[in-house]
Order: sequence, then C-alpha cells, then structure tokens
Amino acid sequence: MLTIKKENAILGATVENLDLTAPLQETDKRELSKALAENHVLFFRDQVISHKNHRDFGLAFGTLQSHPSYPSIDGHREITILKNDAENPSKIDEWHTDMSCRPIPPMGGILVGRIVPDTGGDTLFSSLAAAYEDLPEALKKSLEGMTATHSFAFGFRDSLAEPGGRERLQDAINKNPDVVHPLVRTHPVTRRKLIFLNRIFTSKINGLSKPESKDLLNSLCDHMVQDKYVCRFKWRQNSIAFWDNRSVLHVPVNDYLPALRRMERVVISDTQAPA
Ligand code: SIN
Repeated sequence: MLTIKKENAILGATVENLDLTAPLQETDKRELSKALAENHVLFFRDQVISHKNHRDFGLAFGTLQSHPSYPSIDGHREITILKNDAENPSKIDEWHTDMSCRPIPPMGGILVGRIVPDTGGDTLFSSLAAAYEDLPEALKKSLEGMTATHSFAFGFRDSLAEPGGRERLQDAINKNPDVVHPLVRTHPVTRRKLIFLNRIFTSKINGLSKPESKDLLNSLCDHMVQDKYVCRFKWRQNSIAFWDNRSVLHVPVNDYLPALRRMERVVISDTQAPA
C-alpha cells in the first residue's frame, strides 16, 4: 500500500511504495488525488518510467494538453521537453502557474527528471492558499470581486522579442487571446481560497491604474513566495514532481549551467474555470 510522508507542514509530500510502471489502481488514484489536494505537490523517487507510463499516469487524472511553443517527444505530443544547458538556458525564471493564460488553466503538471545536474536545478513550490490565509482581513475584503488579465503574449514577451520570435509564436498568440480570472479563487476540492496571480502570465489587475496594478501585483507576488510558504525539491534522476497547478506557484532554480538539465512534463486539463 502506498504511503505519504509530509515534507513540510504547509505543502509537499513524498509518495512511497508505488510503482508507476504498473497500471494505477483505483484505490491508489483516490489516495493520490486526496494527498495532492491536501499537500499541493507530491514527490516520487526512483521511478524508471517510459513515455507511455508518464502519459498514462497523467491520463489517470484528466485529459492531457500539449504546449503551444515548447518541443515534445516524437509520437507523444503531450509530453513537453524542457532541455537546457549553456547553449540554451531556461527562459523560465519567474514564479508561475502553468498556462494561467488559458480560459481553463491546467489542473496539474507531472514533471520527470530525465537528466539532472549534479548540483542545482531544484524546483521551488509555494502555497497560494497559505499565502491568502495570512493576508490582513481588510486586504482580503478589498480583493473580493477583483479580476486580473492573464496573457500568453505577455508571458512569452522575451521570446517574441527574439529574431523570428513573432513569426514563430504568431499562431499560438492568435489561438490564446487574453483571459480574465478572479484574483482570489476557491480551490474546487479543498474549498480553500487562494491568490491566483503570477509574474509570468498576469499582465494587469483590472480596474486599477497602471501604477496601482503594478504595485499590487508586485506586493502580492512578493508576499506569495516568502520562505514560510515554500518547499524546495532536490531532483535526482527518475524523480517526479506532481503539482496541483491551482494551488501552487512554481519556479525552477536556474543555477546549474553549464550542466545539462532535461525534464519532461505532462500537463493535465482542468474541467472548470477558476471561480
Ligand atoms: C515548469 O516551470 O513547469 C518547469 C519547472 C522545472 O523545470 O523545474
């Protein structure tokens, strides 16, 4: 029977006694769903899984979506490759929610460490519910009913500015127009409220002047990633992180260059828009 060991009182737990090369049993799936909602992110070690195992693990929790601009595994469009080294450093260097620029942002992501640097390259996760719960009551009240714009074009602004970037991304931009989400959402399973903003995709807080929006966005984004809300995952080859994309921000620590770091990720669709 699988066991769940909490890494931190706020978020993060390691799952043991589960072999992800075997089909996932219904009881294990239920345990994992419950543990994911409670701990926000689950970690697994020493899982030598195939691409099919990775896909099937993701499919147990929902439909999978491909990424509009990152490369994928041949024959597995749903598995995104995140491969970085000195020639191709990672452009992901801000805390974010994956693809919050979609009308229904993903429910979760499952990242496998295929080639892991000897030192560095950790991933950090922060709890959006704990961050919300600590806000002063007056601020919570003033955030009620506010909305923010999330934008694919804003998220990929650095890539767009590169030579040929506009041509490469134009189709993805056309297919991903800006969306509006509540600034505070309620997690559909735990019913905890959480701050739903991030530095990559949130282009503005609606109904405020540009400087006011920038100030509030900066102060909430700084608040959400304080050490007390964060857990750090140290990768080993064949480790896996499965996060609830609704209740955490995450960021890779890009401190491993010139070493190679290769990760593979599936992204699981949600069934309802943030509310
Ligand atoms: C991601 O931002 O989804 C990838 C995180 C990582 O590479 O650690």
